[in-house]
Amino acid sequence: MRKIPILLTLLAATLTLAGCIDTSEPKTPEFKTKLSEQEIKNSPFKAEFPLHYETFLRNNESEIMTEYGGSVAYNKHDNVHPLPEGYKHAQPYLKNLWLGYPFSYEYKAARGHTYALKDILNIDRLNRYDEKAGLPATCWNCKGAKMIEWVGQYGDEFWAKDFNQFREEVDMDENTIGCASCHEPTNMDLRIYSEPLKDYLKAQGKDFKTMPRNEQRALVCGQCHVEYYFTDEGHGANKKPVFPWANGKDPEQVYEYYKDKGNVKMPGFEGNFADWVHPVSQTPMLKAQHPEYETWHNGIHGAAGVSCADCHMSYVRLDGKKKMSTHHWTSPLKDPDLKACRQCHTDKAPDYLRQRVVYTQDKVWEQLMVAQDISVKAHEAIRMANEYEGDKPANYDQLMIDAREMCRKGQFFWDLISAENSVGFHNPTKALDTLARSQQYSQKAVDFAIQAADFTTAAALSKDIKELVPPIMEHSRELQMDPEHMATHQWFKYLKVTPKAEQIWDENRRLIPAPAAS
Ligand code: HEC
Ligand code: HEC
Ligand code: HEC
Ligand code: HEC
Repeated sequence: MRKIPILLTLLAATLTLAGCIDTSEPKTPEFKTKLSEQEIKNSPFKAEFPLHYETFLRNNESEIMTEYGGSVAYNKHDNVHPLPEGYKHAQPYLKNLWLGYPFSYEYKAARGHTYALKDILNIDRLNRYDEKAGLPATCWNCKGAKMIEWVGQYGDEFWAKDFNQFREEVDMDENTIGCASCHEPTNMDLRIYSEPLKDYLKAQGKDFKTMPRNEQRALVCGQCHVEYYFTDEGHGANKKPVFPWANGKDPEQVYEYYKDKGNVKMPGFEGNFADWVHPVSQTPMLKAQHPEYETWHNGIHGAAGVSCADCHMSYVRLDGKKKMSTHHWTSPLKDPDLKACRQCHTDKAPDYLRQRVVYTQDKVWEQLMVAQDISVKAHEAIRMANEYEGDKPANYDQLMIDAREMCRKGQFFWDLISAENSVGFHNPTKALDTLARSQQYSQKAVDFAIQAADFTTAAALSKDIKELVPPIMEHSRELQMDPEHMATHQWFKYLKVTPKAEQIWDENRRLIPAPAAS
């Protein structure tokens, strides 16, 4: 247990934190570079902005952790092994909850932008044992400005192509998230290249170029640090990424949005969008992705106009030169002095501010783990009701629909907070509200499923979930080819053993020559 001195706790309860709100917007200096408008590589910017480039290379640091965040790419489900494999704050049920979806093969904690290409090219989510990745080229959208070339070349035909088709076209250092992802190369004005964000702003009748600078400083991050999905066939350009924000950015509104954006045929879910069907409960599921922007925007800092860049790109001075924005995007808590925070919270000690962050994170984490467990129980309860062979209640079919609906919703709400990378800090109120709803929805799923099975499963389901359904600690594409591994967990019997295959792709190279064109 951490010791929080009583005095400090009292202080925290009685004092509000005095913040400083930027009223007059400082101007960004104007630049004129020798670079071409089309420049998308990173190294050409080095000669123009050596100090910015130096801070950019600091994103290579991938060893420092904070209590909940930090830059080690540990396995997010492994709470058993020490770093770098696992971490004390990992969630053991991730492989269960995402079973049947590529996220169940491998999911690691995020690290710096300079690793974005390396990490996506090595992750087991994209199939490296097949010519085809099994996921569309859309995944490249958030890995850097190479997208500008591809979208220019293929237009909306790009998205539905296979991810693996483009592996050999990228250079790990030159094409990872970099200068051209957020800046106009000729004058360094902030810009956005991300198609889904451009589409969203257009629908809102907004023009990035004329938006207030402070909004731009957060929107450049909102190109990628958001919830998104890939358009289903028949609903627009196939596999194009879209931000599901038409009804608003809060979880209930986003959940509602997905109701008529897809091609699910299952009774009760007709026309829903689904990322996959969970094989154990036969539920059409949604996978949430890192909604930092949506979480932050109506939290206390977002509402007060404190931008992502204020905390993640604070001003630094290198070589005694004038102030510049650091381009080392990482946890502000890694700095022992918390300088980013204390630009505004000038009267607060670093330890006090750190404690306040961790206080929120502890509370959010505890409820996240509860939500996770009930979600697993929901799948198991529905599985049991689905396989129940006794006399069924007259409204069995409707109860099963209701159970699956609540399972889908409960897990999506859990996932939104699980995938959001601040463990609640960006918006403590919304994080806890979303988790409370997740728990209520998932518990309803359990209740409906128990009713559907005429209460015969109630005794079994009253057990501790860890006994009933142990966490799946090992699983990967390679292991799924091994019948012995597939006998190690009761839930694996709902998956097919896949045929033995050799690895074809390694990062941006082939290990096995391409088959001759016929
Ligand atoms: C993820 C988005 C992003 C990327 C990638 C990025 N920048 Fe920036 N950059 C910003 C933001 C935000 C600002 C702050 C602008 C402001 O305050 O008006 C900024 C400011 C700047 C400035 C203006 C001076 C300053 O320090 O505030 C320069 C020069 C600059 N960046 C250079 C670069 C270079 C060189 C690269 C590549 C190594 C790069 N940037 C990559 C977002 C980015
Ligand atoms: C082009 C997409 C893209 C943009 C734009 C972008 N990010 Fe990221 N960001 C990523 C990806 C992808 C990762 C994870 C990389 C990995 O783990 O390989 C990441 C990781 C991070 C991390 C984790 C670093 C660590 O040390 O753990 C932080 C913090 C972060 N981004 C902040 C920002 C901020 C702030 C902005 C805006 C100024 C921004 N990002 C803009 C895609 C983006
Ligand atoms: C008021 C300051 C503040 C603002 C504003 C803010 N963040 Fe954060 N952010 C934090 C803190 C504190 C953490 C938690 C870091 C930790 O646990 O070590 C964090 C965590 C993160 C992480 C995970 C970092 C890690 O170490 O794993 C990402 C990514 C991130 N923020 C992106 C963003 C984006 C994108 C925005 C704007 C939409 C934003 N943040 C706005 C303070 C801020
Ligand atoms: C650009 C200014 C700015 C920066 C940078 C900033 N804050 Fe704040 N912070 C604010 C404002 C404004 C408020 C709202 C409180 C108020 O109005 O007095 C606030 C409120 C808070 C609160 C109280 C939140 C609550 O829920 O009651 C905490 C805790 C906090 N900030 C921590 C941090 C930490 C930690 C960092 C760095 C990671 C940070 N802040 C960076 C301006 C800032």
